[in-house]
Amino acid sequence: MVERSAVIAALDAVMDPVSGQGLFASGLVQGLVVAEDRAGFALEVDRSLVATYAPVRDAAEAALKVLPGMNRVSVILTAEAKPGLAKPAARTAGLSKAAVDQGRAKAPVPTDRPAHVRRVLAIASGKGGVGKSTVAVNLAAALAARGLSVGILDADVYGPSLPTMLGISGQPAYEDGAIVPHQAHGLKAMSVGLLTRMDDAMIWRGPMASQAITQMLTQTRWGVAEAPLDVLVVDLPPGTGDVQLTLIQKTPLDGAVIVSTPQEVALADARRAHTLFQRVNVPTLGLIENMTGPIFGQGGAKAEAERLSIPFLGDLPLDAGLREGGDAGRPPVSADPSGLIAGRFAAIAEQVAAALGL
Ligand SMILES: Nc1ncnc2c1ncn2[C@@H]1O[C@H](COP(=O)(O)OP(=O)(O)OP(=O)(O)O)[C@@H](O)[C@H]1O
Ligand SMILES: [Mg+2]
Repeated sequence: MVERSAVIAALDAVMDPVSGQGLFASGLVQGLVVAEDRAGFALEVDRSLVATYAPVRDAAEAALKVLPGMNRVSVILTAEAKPGLAKPAARTAGLSKAAVDQGRAKAPVPTDRPAHVRRVLAIASGKGGVGKSTVAVNLAAALAARGLSVGILDADVYGPSLPTMLGISGQPAYEDGAIVPHQAHGLKAMSVGLLTRMDDAMIWRGPMASQAITQMLTQTRWGVAEAPLDVLVVDLPPGTGDVQLTLIQKTPLDGAVIVSTPQEVALADARRAHTLFQRVNVPTLGLIENMTGPIFGQGGAKAEAERLSIPFLGDLPLDAGLREGGDAGRPPVSADPSGLIAGRFAAIAEQVAAALGL
């Protein structure tokens, strides 16, 4: 049994060459997991400093491996791009050949569409904790209530929450080499959280994350030829960093919905998310304001949507039922279909379905 404090002390004995501080004190250690006889974390550094930090990662691994009782150490070096540096991926037929070639050389272009899935819709937010997963689950249920066949994929590698929100658990079954999605509240559901122990989630960062998402997208039996899935809702991880960029480049998205709270900080992040989608030519179908009310304010997202010239899809009040329903695995849209929240989601779903041509 290795103590977290011993791991932190060992990390601080390794010097961060840039700040001169101990490695843990430097703040570069992300997602530290210490469990029984193993430990792991991501070392998140600026892209230009990857070469500088490779030996630091090795030193950190070596320092942890010699701790008494330590069996397995995994340290992943991830490069965080400075905002504005990432190159766009050319995806539409309208772009010049040179632009397309440049896009191919610089960034992966999505190749694998999941079979028998008509539309793929991303739910995104610049900022964490704004209600993205809550919206993803309830919007999916509202689309299903319109008679559509709907799947939901939890691609949030930082904090998969679909298992809790939909009340599903257990490794998915495999049949003829395909993953059989769970069924819950009329939705076909798959989560990165079902493929890994929760405290292993951090190992999905970086390239492994996008590989895992691609697998869940393309190897899950979302639909069959006789009964295709109308729409697959994808709950993306929050933020606008490298992981998100890679995911949206590799995922064949037909549109994105951005969730924000009315606060200025969240709106600034929503703006960044919109810019990220513009770069990869994924249309932003609109902005949803969540947690509207006396605590966080009201109307900020509507004004922001006007500034960005994207549709405002509606607002959702701060509502105890939404939170409790999420915690209990009973989304209000399916648990209370005639309630106020279900009504709001029905109106949002109508606009989203129209925008997707469904
Ligand atoms: N309108 C709302 N009213 C009350 N509680 C809400 C509302 N929307 C979300 N919540 C609650 O806020 C918390 C965060 O919501 P959620 O997990 O959906 O956010 P998220 O953006 O997906 O977060 P993360 O960045 O961690 O993935 C949850 O406990 C959820 O139940
Ligand atoms: Mg979430």
